[in-house]
Order: sequence, then C-alpha cells, then structure tokens
Amino acid sequence: MSAQTSTSASSHDTKLSVGVPADTKDAVKVLSVTHWNDRLFHFEVERPSSFRFRSGEFVMIGLLNDEGKPLLRAYSIAAPFWSETLAFYSIKVQDGPLTSKLQNIAVGDYIIMKTKPVGTLVLDALIPGKRLYMIATGTGIAPFASLIRDPEVYEQYDEVILTHTCRETDELAYGKWLIEETKKDPLIGELAAAQLRYYPTTTRDESPKMGRITTLIENGTLYEDLNVPPLSAETDRVMICGSMGLNTDVKALLEAAGLEEGANSKPATYVLEKAFVG
Ligand code: A2P
Repeated sequence: MSAQTSTSASSHDTKLSVGVPADTKDAVKVLSVTHWNDRLFHFEVERPSSFRFRSGEFVMIGLLNDEGKPLLRAYSIAAPFWSETLAFYSIKVQDGPLTSKLQNIAVGDYIIMKTKPVGTLVLDALIPGKRLYMIATGTGIAPFASLIRDPEVYEQYDEVILTHTCRETDELAYGKWLIEETKKDPLIGELAAAQLRYYPTTTRDESPKMGRITTLIENGTLYEDLNVPPLSAETDRVMICGSMGLNTDVKALLEAAGLEEGANSKPATYVLEKAFVG
C-alpha cells in the first residue's frame, strides 16, 4: 500500500501551517493524516468529550478564510460512534476553496468542527429488513466507514453489502483498507467478517470488476456475483451516498423495485445523502 500516514508533527517542517489557532471556537486537533494519492486523503481529529453522533451523520468542518471567517463544508464522520477519535475522508481539489488548504493540514494543527451532527443516512430512517445495501461512489464511502462498524447494523440485518465504485483503481485503496481494519477490529471484526460483503468496482481503470453500479444492478451482474435475489422491497434496505447523478439514477432503480425514500421523521426502505466533498 502506498498511502503515506503521519502521526507526528514532523511533516510540519516543510509546510506552512494551514490550521486555525488552537483557541478558535470549535477547534479540534489533528491527530493523523493519511494521503492515499494526489487526490484523496483522510485524517483523524480529537473527539470533543461531550460530542455524540449517530453512525452515518455528518458535521460541518473547515478552516478560516483569508478574512478570518469560517469556511465550512459538510463532511460525513468516517469513524464509528464508539471511537475515541473522529475521522474524515476528503478529495483534494487544487483550486477548491477549502480542500486546496485542508489537504495541507498536519498533525498538531487545529481545524474547526461544528458539533451539530445531522443526516438521513442513519438506521433510524429505515424500517426493518433482512439485507442492507450501502451504495457508494468516490468519497461517498465515508459515512459507511462509520455504519459498517456499528454493531446495531449487524443486529438489525443478516447481510450487509457495501458497494464502492470509483473511476480508477487507486481510488479504491481507502475502502480496501477500511474493510481490512473493520474485519480485524476487536469489537466488530467477528460480526463484520460473517455478515459484511464488499463489492468494489471501477469504471475507467481495468480491474477485476468493472462498471457503474447502476449498470451492474440493471443487468443482474451484482445479484449473480453475490448470489442474492434481485432487489425486493420486502427484504432489502438501501443507503446511497455519491454524486447527484448516482443518487438520482439509483433512486429511480429502487423506486421501480417498489422501495420508498425514508427520513428520520418517516422511516421507509431506502435513504440517500449526497456526497459531501470540498
Ligand atoms: P463513470 O466513470 O462512468 O462516470 P465521479 O468522480 O464523477 O463522482 O464518479 C465516481 C464514480 O461514480 C465513477 O466510477 C462514475 O462512473 C460513477 N458514476 C457517476 N455518475 C454515476 C451515475 N449517474 N450512476 C452510476 N454511477 C455513476
């Protein structure tokens, strides 16, 4: 694996700090930074002691802009609810207002994190079922990094299927690492090893499984590969997190199969959230 992880402040030496002053309102300290490639990174921050969230929720995080005003974006929390630290997974956009700077954060820097978690990609917004699909593209995998480490997921569903589609093979590295970590986790590993199935695909690079997830659902390849029956509103529940196009197209497929969109106030058979990218 070619990911570069820093857990000490030494990487500060060569870079100008982009963090906020430690006494900034809602500042949290960066504990580690992992660069997966020139387009993707993830980082861990300290968890404020009173901070609670439900698996799959997001918060606003960011830095100060040149005028000293908070520049915040919604980021799914990519850590389990029981973790002592929080984590986020992000793209790097070279001219993006936030991620052009955020990608340079280093261990010991502070970022802003608002402590009001929200979101619809939560177990509470789904009615009971047998099989839970989690359909992600790109950084849309982030909320599932939290959900697949929630024991409740495995209590509520017999089978959990995480699909992750990216353009290129190296964009799958974080997901692969996440699955490995989850399956060897002392708390959740055994449940995940027995009930979690991972289905990575690429659309542009050559890889063992190619194609958009929508195509693989429509032509039945997904069901054949996993040896599961076609989507059914009786047994299957779905969470979607990716680009607007993905959300719209998967939504249409699900509704054709009789599934209905759920919300915190009205649980149903599928939920979606757009990918929160800087
Ligand atoms: P594709 O390469 O065919 O566009 P993006 O980086 O544009 O968000 O895309 C991430 C992944 O999601 C890519 O593999 C992309 O496939 C796929 N994708 C984008 N839009 C859709 C869609 N409407 N339905 C299914 N997959 C999509």
